[in-house]
Amino acid sequence: MPSRVAGTGSYLPQRIVTNDELARRVATSDEWIRTRTGICQRHVAAPDERTSDLALGAATGALAAASLKPADVDLIIVATTTPDIVFPSTACILQAKLGAAGGPAFDVQAVCSGFVYALAIADRMVSGGLARNALVVGAEIYSHILDWEDRSTCVLFGDGAGAVVLVPSDEPGILSAHLHADGNYKDILCVPGQVKNGRVAGIPFVRMDGSAVFKFAVKVLAEVAHEALTANRRTTADIDWLIPHQANIRIMDATAKKLGVPLSRVVSTVDKHANTSAASIPLALDAGVRDGRIREGQHVMLVGVGGGFTWGSVYLRW
Ligand code: UT7
Repeated sequence: MPSRVAGTGSYLPQRIVTNDELARRVATSDEWIRTRTGICQRHVAAPDERTSDLALGAATGALAAASLKPADVDLIIVATTTPDIVFPSTACILQAKLGAAGGPAFDVQAVCSGFVYALAIADRMVSGGLARNALVVGAEIYSHILDWEDRSTCVLFGDGAGAVVLVPSDEPGILSAHLHADGNYKDILCVPGQVKNGRVAGIPFVRMDGSAVFKFAVKVLAEVAHEALTANRRTTADIDWLIPHQANIRIMDATAKKLGVPLSRVVSTVDKHANTSAASIPLALDAGVRDGRIREGQHVMLVGVGGGFTWGSVYLRW
């Protein structure tokens, strides 16, 4: 049986950090950040908030929208690069917080493509009968892995979580998924530190070759969207809403332009959320659903790209 999305949810930490606030800490300006990235502000988690807390907020919203009780959740997948702890997985911690014990629960680590990877896996598990339903969450606290003295990275990211509930359906909702990775590009975006012998060895902060990432992202986001359209025998006209990973408005605009999708059909939340890595696509999806832009029967193209490098698409009918 195919699967479809039955509900979406979001959670953003209360504290908002504006570009002006960052400009008081590092040598940057609101003007530089806005014009280079489209970012105006980001949410930052409270000191005692963990990724599983953000995930719980988004999951609660998605479950309510899907009219599903937490106890009825079967599979849980959390896409995250910033887990609560080394192990157990944030998905298992979330499962305990929800009171949903019994079904499978695990994390997916594909950085900013994590949500697309997780949704693809959940779709196959639900449609293949391995799970009755699935809660798929993208949740991140990037503020923990940012060097707040490094203006080239600290202005770009934010914290947040987005979630969807997948259920079996007579009509196909998820139409296709295409996933890719090329580990040769592992060094252009990374957190090269590791926990070793009771200490952090190496650099525990985001390191990035911004211009290499920019070029790579624009290339593969458009390619993977085309791959999905070809597999579904569709054209660009069959994208009602394009939801790319929300890293930089210039990457998103360039991708839409390459595809020939008008900017009016791109859902963008990067101005308010900044780059929330695995949470960025489900946060934008939830925004588009809740403000009524994404309507029943429409076709939505999700395209993600991130460290690894990883990239992928999920094409779905709402
Ligand atoms: O999920 C994927 C995560 N990563 C990304 O999406 C990042 C992709 N890359 C980008 O978004 C862009 O490359 C950036 C926004 C990071 C940079 O934009 P750019 O137009 O490629 O700028 P640039 O790298 O050419 O840097 C221009 C200048 C440099 O100064 P010099 O060497 O020309 O004197 C930087 O040092 O801007 C400087 N700069 C800043 N200035 C003010 C870098 N960061 C800042 C800053 N404020 N925050």
